[in-house]
Amino acid sequence: MTAAVPAWSLAENASLRHLNTFHVPAHAKRLLHVNDAAALPEALATIGDADLLVLGSGSNVLLAADPDDVVLVFDNREITALEHRADHTIVRVGAGVIWHELVMWSLTEGLSGLENLALIPGTVGAAPIQNIGAYGVQVGEFIQTVEAWDRQDNVWVRLDQEACRFAYRDSVFKHELDRYLITAVEFRLPLLHALRLEYAGIGEELQAMGIEQPVAADVANAVIAIRRRKLPDPDVLGNAGSFFKNPILPIEQVDVLLQHYPALPVFPADDERHRKVSAAWMIEAAGFKGQRDGDAGVSPNHALVLVNHGNATGADLLAFARRVSAAVLEKFGVPIEPEPRLIGARW
Ligand code: FAD
Ligand code: EPU
Repeated sequence: MTAAVPAWSLAENASLRHLNTFHVPAHAKRLLHVNDAAALPEALATIGDADLLVLGSGSNVLLAADPDDVVLVFDNREITALEHRADHTIVRVGAGVIWHELVMWSLTEGLSGLENLALIPGTVGAAPIQNIGAYGVQVGEFIQTVEAWDRQDNVWVRLDQEACRFAYRDSVFKHELDRYLITAVEFRLPLLHALRLEYAGIGEELQAMGIEQPVAADVANAVIAIRRRKLPDPDVLGNAGSFFKNPILPIEQVDVLLQHYPALPVFPADDERHRKVSAAWMIEAAGFKGQRDGDAGVSPNHALVLVNHGNATGADLLAFARRVSAAVLEKFGVPIEPEPRLIGARW
């Protein structure tokens, strides 16, 4: 007979090395695991108004110091199809589900939409926070409702897509950090939709795979192949994906930059008056690709990825990132900002 899994559990002085993909050393005074989201209010009652940090897989945080008090991790991993319609299915997914597993599950169920987001590390609960995006798709497009415990008003809330205010690497949750503890996300996934193949690299990858009429699963396989080539595996070389966001600049400023640097890659932004420019290109041009100082460095494969070669601390990585951004500011006059959340430091 197997013992029943407790609805929640609280441990003291827990290592966070396995809970951050930079694999820097850090500790939580208390680590709260919640298996049954319905028991969250009861679990929270035991910690009173202690400072709380939610972590999923820690693939978008830099622990520059130990978190103040309690770290909360969701282990609820149910995926439930709530409603089958002629052209879409509504799926409810627990915060603790691993994102890539949801993408693979959706494809085997014949659902599409998430294929361009294959292999992004992390959990479903974290996906809405920065509106994860890759290869021309952002997750917010497919989110119908985010279910959360509102720690400010002590009530359960359901935020619809509009209330989430999704934008490039942004959402309402980023502006009210630690207020909403996301317990589940409901997705509206189409049975058929127009595949997004326009992002550079996908078409070529499909061609190289010999696929002329791709289905959603083929696009996922192409994205997986490109990502494996470009991005270091955090289990081998600690990293948090792109360390800097691509800056969004007014078109006038982009025109001036292009006069000096015609090769600077420029992408559309959320509105017509702005453009997104490549931070990776500027970092490479500033001479930082593959550079390191001790064990903190920039990946030799991708200039936007800060890496831990072994024993860098969060503070070492942050110091190196500041050098990178200062060099880009000096050369291009463009400030770049970290994408991961900094714990124990301000940018
Ligand atoms: P964490 O890093 O644990 O947390 C991130 C933030 O979300 C923190 O503020 C945390 O407090 C908050 N949070 C987490 N869970 C919850 C919850 N349940 N409720 C409330 N707040 C919560 N991102 C992209 O957008 N596109 C990419 O292509 C991409 N590629 C990556 C590649 C690599 C190799 C790596 C390491 C990272 C990449 N990322 C990418 C970043 C990262 O995968 C995403 O941001 C992911 O959503 C983080 O999930 P996580 O569970 O690890 O969140
Ligand atoms: N480039 C360089 N040098 C490099 C790498 C890239 O000059 O070392 C240039 C290339 O010219 C390329 C351009 O930068 O055309 C863009 O590169 P890439 O397609 O790799 O995309 P990115 O802008 O660097 C963004 C996201 C990634 C996402 C990819 C694919 C941000 C901050 N990053 O990276 O997301 O996977 O596009 O869509 O928006 C993440 O957020 O952690 C992440 C990995």
